Formats: sequence, structure tokens, C-alpha cells
Amino acid sequence: MKINIDDCIRFSDGKKFESMLRKAKKADRLLKSGKGAGSDYLGWLDLPKRIKKEDIKLINKAAAKIQQQSDVLVVIGIGGSYLGARAAIEALTDVRNIKGTEVIFVGNNISGKYVESVLEYLKDKDYSLNVISKSGTTVEPAIAFRIFKEALYEKYKEKAKDRIYITTDPVKGALRSIVEKEGYTSFEIPADIGGRYSILTPCGLLPIAVAGIDIEQMISGAKDALKNCTEMSVTYAAARNLMYKSKKTIEIMVNYDPSMHFFTEWWKQLYGESEGKENKGIFPAGVDNTTDLHSMGQYIQEGIRNIFETVVYIKDDMSTITVPDISDNSDGLDYIKNKSLKYVNEMAMRGTKSAHLEGDVPVILIELEKMDAFTFGKLIYFFERACGISGYILGVNPFDQPGVEAYKKSMFKLLGKPGY
Ligand code: PA5
Repeated sequence: MKINIDDCIRFSDGKKFESMLRKAKKADRLLKSGKGAGSDYLGWLDLPKRIKKEDIKLINKAAAKIQQQSDVLVVIGIGGSYLGARAAIEALTDVRNIKGTEVIFVGNNISGKYVESVLEYLKDKDYSLNVISKSGTTVEPAIAFRIFKEALYEKYKEKAKDRIYITTDPVKGALRSIVEKEGYTSFEIPADIGGRYSILTPCGLLPIAVAGIDIEQMISGAKDALKNCTEMSVTYAAARNLMYKSKKTIEIMVNYDPSMHFFTEWWKQLYGESEGKENKGIFPAGVDNTTDLHSMGQYIQEGIRNIFETVVYIKDDMSTITVPDISDNSDGLDYIKNKSLKYVNEMAMRGTKSAHLEGDVPVILIELEKMDAFTFGKLIYFFERACGISGYILGVNPFDQPGVEAYKKSMFKLLGKPGY
């Protein structure tokens, strides 16, 4: 894993970068000291080296049981309680190597159409439920749990109990009380780890293991980042804050592989919820290239110049397919005949990077040799660490989300919830 921030330094200047780097190092020290804002939620900081073998064993055991009992695991959760797992599963499984069970995510919207289509899909399938909510009170997953639990009991009667897995706070919340009352199998999200930093807790690990991904490798990758990549996190945090100071208030996360779409969604939530407060913060956006070069490309190249990009590029996507050599050149593609798609995609990335820089869009480039469970774990810890640092540079608490309450209050009032 390598990071290149040369565009940002060129765009601003070396001296300004050095000064921002000093701020980032100071912010990282504050993070480690546990004396910064929101320090009650720093459990994720050294989590990769604290995860116990016994806990991994328990998760893998539950995952094996789900795989053996079910065609589908329905994961009920929203925000940090589903994005990490979905990002990992989409990035790390493809049709050629899926060994695990299908995982479907619900409870991350309130669309009746979506819920009915999933219920219909499950009709002739065996399935289990993993309800994930740290607070245990979030309305979207609570609604989904009521609906899917009813369907599960209708199908399996009393045996349904053996197909429900609850991941929640160790002591607090409605879901914990339900576990105590009903005796469902449960897992804990440590009290000192907030939703968007919880992918390496059972919140992310159970669904990821069910999908057939090696969670031990993922944790090893995160451990490696904790040991060896802190400096890179500091550099990234410094570069993006340098851009913010230069009035680049929108950061677009760019990938060149559709399997990374939900990784971007995970990153958007991590940075958006951690930094967007007190009228401050970089707005995190995302594009999937080259697809979005034909939709958002125009704006990025020539719209309001308040954008910088972070490209996460996977050098070897493990494919071998090439552009066929056909007998005539009627499509005009002979200039790339026999070239691998991997090569063409890389040239698209490099060409776009140059064009965007010319259009005043500096690019931070993060290159990965390949995507596997180890690399994925490394990448998520790298971004989590950088997010904490970045929030402290900005002067906000990166571990709370007070603004999320506003929509709930207004919605509850409309729905007639008592007390609103
Ligand atoms: O990062 C966070 O804390 C939030 O995005 C939560 O993950 C999200 O609101 C879901 O909360 P809960 O797990 O309590 O249902």
C-alpha cells in the first residue's frame, strides 16, 4: 500500500504542507493520549491487537452454523451497523470464489417495495437473521426486525429462535433486553466503539465470516496498519486538510472497480459523520470509474473548482482477460488489441488523474497491489486512524453524531411517537 500526495503539495506549497503535517502529527498524539474530544469512544484505536482468539473462534463457529443451516443470512442494520460488512463482502467475494452463504442487507431503508421483494425472495430459501444495532433503538432496523422475525417464526415456528443472532451493546438498549428475555444468541459491540468504527467487532465480523471471508486475515491486515501505516494515515489527514484550507471542500473517493462501491459508501459515512459538524468539514462524495466518468466526469473536470479526489487503485485485479484480436478493425480498437483490461483500466486511471489535475482537481493516489482480506483490513484501519486525526485537526469531536437526531425528531413528530 502506497500513498502519493504530490499533486496536493504542488497545488498548495511545500511549506504549507510541512506546517499541516506538524498539525497532523500533533493530532495523532492527542488521539493516542486519549485526552481529545470523544475519548470515551477510542476502543477501535488499538482493537486489531486486542481481539481475542476465543472471540474469533466464537464468531467463526456461529458463522459455520449459519452457513450449514441457511442459504441466506439477512443482516438487519443501518449506518455503521451494516456498511462495513457490506463493503468487505462486495470487495472480497466474486462469482468465482464465493464459498460462503449469501448475505442480504435490510433495515437500512424504509422502502416497503424493497422489504416485500426480499420477503418474496426468501420464501423458498432457508435463512437466518443477524440483527445489528449498538443502541438497539434505531427505527429502521427495529421495523425490519419486527417484519422479518414474524416471517421467520411463521416459517420455522419455535425453531426460529435458533436462527436469530443479535449484535448489540453489552448491557444497554432494547435489543439487549430482548436477548435476555428470549435467550437469542448474541454478540457484543464494545461500549467504547461507535458504529462507524465497528467493522472489526462482531458487527462486521459475523456477516463477513458468513460470506466466507477469512476474518483472521482481515484482522492481521488491520494489525499491520496499526503497526506500520500510522505515518501514512498522518500524511493522508494532512493532505486532505491542506486541500480543505485551499477551499477544496469536497473530497471525492474514486475507485476503478465496481466491487469497491460499498467501500466508498463505508468511507463516506466514516468521514461525513465524523467531520461534518459545527459548520465545518470536507463533504465526502464518491464515484465509480470509469462508469461515472460518463456522468460526473464533466462536473469534476469543469464545474465549481472546490473538489479534490482520493483514488484507491487496485493494481492487480487478478484478471487475465484481454481485448480480442479479431479479423477486422471495424470498431477501431486494434490499437489496444491483446492488451489486458487491467492495463487499459490503469491507463484510464492515470489519464484521468492527469486530466483532473490540469482541471485544478488535485488527486491523492492510494495504490494497493491487490485486494484480499489482509489488504482490506489494512485499508480500513488506515482510513479509521486518518479520520480520527483529521477530525482533531479540524477541531471537532470525530466520534459523535449529534446532527443525526434532527431528522428523527421531526419524523417521530409526524408519526405521532409519544413524547414528540
Ligand atoms: O456511526 C454511528 O454511530 C451511526 O452511524 C450508527 O452506526 C447508526 O446510526 C446505527 O446505529 P445503531 O447501531 O445504534 O442502530
